[in-house]
Amino acid sequence: MHTPTTLDVVEGIDFTGKTCVITGASAGLGRESARALATTGAHVILAARNVGALRDAQDWIRSEVPAASTSIVALDLTSLASVRTAAAAVRDLAPQIHVLMNNAGVMFTPFGRTADGFEIQFGTNHLGHYALTRLLSPHLAEGGRIVILSSDGHRMSDVDLDDLNWERRKYDKFAAYGASKTANVLHMVDLDRRMRDRGVRAYAVHPGVVATSLARHMNRADFERLTRLEPADPGQAKVDVRRDFLMPEQGAATQVWAAVSPELADTGSVYLADCRIRDDVAPYAMDDAHAAELSQLSEKLCGAGVHP
Ligand SMILES: NC(=O)c1ccc[n+]([C@@H]2O[C@H](COP(=O)([O-])OP(=O)(O)OC[C@H]3O[C@@H](n4cnc5c(N)ncnc54)[C@H](OP(=O)(O)O)[C@@H]3O)[C@@H](O)[C@H]2O)c1
Repeated sequence: MHTPTTLDVVEGIDFTGKTCVITGASAGLGRESARALATTGAHVILAARNVGALRDAQDWIRSEVPAASTSIVALDLTSLASVRTAAAAVRDLAPQIHVLMNNAGVMFTPFGRTADGFEIQFGTNHLGHYALTRLLSPHLAEGGRIVILSSDGHRMSDVDLDDLNWERRKYDKFAAYGASKTANVLHMVDLDRRMRDRGVRAYAVHPGVVATSLARHMNRADFERLTRLEPADPGQAKVDVRRDFLMPEQGAATQVWAAVSPELADTGSVYLADCRIRDDVAPYAMDDAHAAELSQLSEKLCGAGVHP
């Protein structure tokens, strides 16, 4: 089977005059998405913590796409103050945003807390992006898209709305990642419901198992544990994370497809993988009431920091 690449997906797409913002664009899937979107003529804003790595990514994109229009913005999702500064910098660079790709993420980190006291995986993967999206939403153009990186790993756990930040339970790095990736899908569901009347649609994406630096916190026992996980559909073959991995140019194809494909123009609130809509998402991740409740709690946790 031919696995499409990001460049297959952007073929024939002209985004001249449009702006795409990508978090986590210094590495892995975000960097590859930035390269592909740069070929469409879009102005691509790359955001992450490490500014040196962002500059390297910018140089690499220019070497691949000489006409690329890119900017960089320092963003640390583990600090609401940094998110606020980054959102202001994005607004200064671009009055209108056509694609917001919430891609940055961490996985299976040891227990820790963000500057604002949130558990690291939930704080980085969900709450930091919740705040960023809240601050940038007024600047999303009609016809704009919000693409949120989730993972099939969302099946490892629902979010516990009574203990979002692991204050009352023993920390489990797998469940915490799963919960943060469920929160990503729920965030997408809530955004699409609230913004579709403005012509802005939202999509959640599972990129596949992709060779990036995301697995940096995994040891041999963690790989063994993941390999033993049963697939959601019993008819499906088990994924062996040590064997069945994609390269970033294939892995990032679905998120770039979500950002540009005319096929998705009248669709939103969907979970995507392999450049198609998938219906094997966990029911708890697509529940409207659950999504609305998470959104209210996220708003409360982020506090005044999310108001422009
Ligand atoms: N790779 C896979 O197999 C896979 C599978 C399912 C889902 N995903 C999802 O895909 C997304 C991208 O993952 P990847 O594989 O490309 O990982 P990666 O290679 O580790 O890249 C992660 C990116 O996120 C940025 N980042 C991490 N912490 C951040 C923070 N606090 N603030 C701002 N940026 C931060 C990193 O840059 P800095 O460190 O410079 O900030 C980097 O640019 C993640 O959301 C992940 O959950 C990946």
